[in-house]
Amino acid sequence: MITSVLRTALALGLSLAMSAAAHAQSGAAEGQKLAFDRGKGNCLTCHEIKGGDLPGSIGPKLENLKGRYDRAELTAILNDETTRNPLTVMPPFGRNRILTEQEISAIVDFLQTL
Ligand code: HEC
Repeated sequence: MITSVLRTALALGLSLAMSAAAHAQSGAAEGQKLAFDRGKGNCLTCHEIKGGDLPGSIGPKLENLKGRYDRAELTAILNDETTRNPLTVMPPFGRNRILTEQEISAIVDFLQTL
């Protein structure tokens, strides 16, 4: 009896974890599309990003971000980098509604894979 309850709980936990992982993965794929899209994130205009064509060099190469910024910090950078650096040329994607909250979240998923 107890083992069957445990087994069910374990299976449930596992499937939840797997769907969370699948969700993060599809978010990252969507985020890459948005980041590379010249009419959306257009990040390649200024940043070199692994897998992206014809990058500009106005901003730093985007790499090893996961080790340096957590999710909230990356979201803040995308929302409005002028709060960190008032003189930045990076567009405030969230504040100016260039990207929706959902789009920014997907791009952050992608940035965390770099
Ligand atoms: C017009 C140029 C420009 C565009 C477009 C741009 N950025 Fe930036 N970005 C910069 C610059 C310049 C910096 C350097 C920091 C600063 O200026 O405050 C930067 C910094 C960053 C950082 C911090 C990097 C680090 O190593 O500390 C991240 C993350 C970032 N940008 C992500 C993005 C993403 C994702 C996009 C697309 C949605 C994007 N940027 C679009 C210019 C740009």
